Amino acid sequence: MISYKEKIADILAPQIEGLEKHEIMAMIEVPADSKMGDYAFPCFKLAKILRKAPPLIAKGIAEAIEGEALFERVESVNAYVNMFVSREDMAANVIGEVLKQGDDYGRSDIGAGKTVIVEYSSPNIAKPFHIGHIRSTVIGNSIYKIYDFLGYDTVRINHLGDYGTQFGKMICAYRRWGNREDVIKEPIKSLLSYYTKFHEEAEKDPSLEDEARAIFVKLENGEPEEVELWQWFREESLKEFNRVYDMLGITFDSYNGESFYSDKMPAVVQELKDKGLLVEDGGAQIVKLDQFDLPPALITKSDGSTLYITRDIAAAIYRKQTYDFYKNIYVVASQQNLHFQQWIKVIELMGYDWANDCVHVPFGLVSMEDGTMSTRQGRVIFLEDVLNRAVEKTREIILEKNVNTENIEETARDVGIGAVVFNELSNYRIKDYVFSWDKVLNFEGETGPYVQYTHARACSILRNAGEEVVAAASGGFDASKVTSDSAHELIKLIYEMPEVIAEAGEKYEPSIVTRHIVDMAQAFNKFYHDEHILVDDEDEKQARVALVIAARNAIRNGLDLLGMKAPERM
Ligand code: ARG
Repeated sequence: MISYKEKIADILAPQIEGLEKHEIMAMIEVPADSKMGDYAFPCFKLAKILRKAPPLIAKGIAEAIEGEALFERVESVNAYVNMFVSREDMAANVIGEVLKQGDDYGRSDIGAGKTVIVEYSSPNIAKPFHIGHIRSTVIGNSIYKIYDFLGYDTVRINHLGDYGTQFGKMICAYRRWGNREDVIKEPIKSLLSYYTKFHEEAEKDPSLEDEARAIFVKLENGEPEEVELWQWFREESLKEFNRVYDMLGITFDSYNGESFYSDKMPAVVQELKDKGLLVEDGGAQIVKLDQFDLPPALITKSDGSTLYITRDIAAAIYRKQTYDFYKNIYVVASQQNLHFQQWIKVIELMGYDWANDCVHVPFGLVSMEDGTMSTRQGRVIFLEDVLNRAVEKTREIILEKNVNTENIEETARDVGIGAVVFNELSNYRIKDYVFSWDKVLNFEGETGPYVQYTHARACSILRNAGEEVVAAASGGFDASKVTSDSAHELIKLIYEMPEVIAEAGEKYEPSIVTRHIVDMAQAFNKFYHDEHILVDDEDEKQARVALVIAARNAIRNGLDLLGMKAPERM
């Protein structure tokens, strides 16, 4: 597709001495109010170069470029040159392009030949997959989809928390109070209850802690009985996690979690030693990070065991060797900011110039309306329960509203789960937010159901138009028939979609896509409200139907990038 900013920069360049084309391009704005044009060029910066008042400069430029075919009209208002592009040309370009590209509209190849790792979800074995984990899972999945759409080779990694001293406690607790059947029926709830009991009992009887430590040492040494139990806990937990991933339609390329690196640790510790980075500190081994104003990284404890951070260092080195990544992205809560700053510095100190390609993508906390969740107090909201409840509530709404669908169950799933996903991706990820059912399932607000409903409405219009008209519109249309204000606004938003996707990727910020598809849905509904689509005049009908197809495709592609389904009937 043509780049309007680039074309405009080409036209402006001969008028503006002293600025390069790319500089001009960067200065071109999209006014918030389209009465000020589709594009605007501010002339303040030129005053110094040209030694003239900005409004005079704007006036001169406007007069000089007025006749260009790209524009319908050009005006100068104060220091701005306001440009109105030819609506007909833009309609022909944009709708034509979307009709040609279909599901690929917005796809690019800027990432060709580059591998990007996206690590996300990464729950802890035998611990609940709670509402907090949904953030990493859903944000990470969307970032993966965006990078994939931008043409990168992607690797999705679930860095399971499946290693550490807590497994000594878990095995100890299971042996004392556990029951095989219960674990099989409800693995995480059962294992968690044993774990909680361990902490209660250990307060009364501290010798339990020693017992648990001894068990962990056995596990580390590969004693079959302990290894078998640990493996079983892991498998049962994964089954439960997979139920949630299935509901969300999420898969991974690798489940190499912390335990995967246990045998790679000695080499890393040795390398740190060889590079002169390890310092002894009361029996423990640390890497000092004073020069960066950071607390030291604890690499091995006094008993020689390694830590979470050691495993992350090993994992990063392994990933570089295995995938030769262009970027290694970690979608992990902002509570771990310090942890990531520390280990990435250690990688840098080891002399690896790819340290800067390891990117921590943090996000804020989510809490429930009725108080926060905390694993220790046992007041945990399980993600699976949240998703099930969303589906149930949506089913109720569908029945109440007499929604037009043949398959109530499927629609309730797509919309209920989609609502939770969309809600997650609505705000800047770094913001904390409160989960509210009313907000999530509102069909009228800036929500998932609203966007899905808009998409379904477009599908319904196309069904009513009939296959023949849709086929004709896909083949060609009279662009002069879709130049009204509301059609033009919608077309501009569709045009911006590829830029929006690229920006969301650059900033690791799916909410940019979320907001944009809300805007598109609103613009579509305005267009639908302002204009009859299935009118008698064949040319008019065909052009409007073509725009409906384009809008439907753009919204559907956007929903897919968020990890949502786009039901055709609602
Ligand atoms: N398992 C950790 C948790 O649930 C998250 C792991 C994050 N990833 C990493 N490479 N450290 O808190």
